[in-house]
Amino acid sequence: MKNVIRQKVLNIRGSMSSEEVMEKSAKIHQKLYETQHYQSATTIMTYVDFQNEVETRSIIARAFQEGKNVAVPICGSNYTLLPIKIESFEDLEPGTMGILEPKKTKNIIDVKKLDLVLVPGIAFDRKGNRLGYGLAYYDRFLNSLSPATVTIALAYGFQIFPTIPQEEHDHRVNIIITENELIKCN
Ligand SMILES: Nc1ncnc2c1ncn2[C@@H]1O[C@H](COP(=O)(O)OP(=O)(O)O)[C@@H](O)[C@H]1O
Ligand SMILES: [Mg+2]
Repeated sequence: MKNVIRQKVLNIRGSMSSEEVMEKSAKIHQKLYETQHYQSATTIMTYVDFQNEVETRSIIARAFQEGKNVAVPICGSNYTLLPIKIESFEDLEPGTMGILEPKKTKNIIDVKKLDLVLVPGIAFDRKGNRLGYGLAYYDRFLNSLSPATVTIALAYGFQIFPTIPQEEHDHRVNIIITENELIKCN
């Protein structure tokens, strides 16, 4: 069932034009910037978009301008993610699956210091249940966060499903932002 949803969403997302990605992403960014969670965050972690995911490079650029600490995940051993502080886009290079990752593994940020984490995903339901690429990277990572860290998933409207099958190890997000709405999951 999880794989059926993954395939369906990846097909739709893969067929989006770059204009559609930018237009919907811009609406999502605007909603994010309006949240108190973004505005008050000193340290944020975000994925770097690939393959038509909701764009995050403009969020990174804005956060730099606003003097926030920006962390980007690097894939560690055993499907773990490590948040690494970056100071500019020059600090990134293609890594696992061709996703841009920090070049150096120094400047690891303590996960407990993250105020806000922007989470990618393939599909979500309105309770915040999440479907990823099938390697559970973010399940492990979300499990390690402090309860004080706010998790916000960025997704297109077509990525929201009535229910997402959940297993014991799956982790929810607190908020989902789409081009149409902000969904508070808890
Ligand atoms: N903490 C963990 N340790 C070991 N294996 C795990 C852990 N969390 C999840 N898995 C395994 O990873 C696989 C993929 O998990 P799944 O939740 O379907 O992926 P995703 O969250 O990327 O959609 C599952 O077979 C699951 O048993
Ligand atoms: Mg999962």
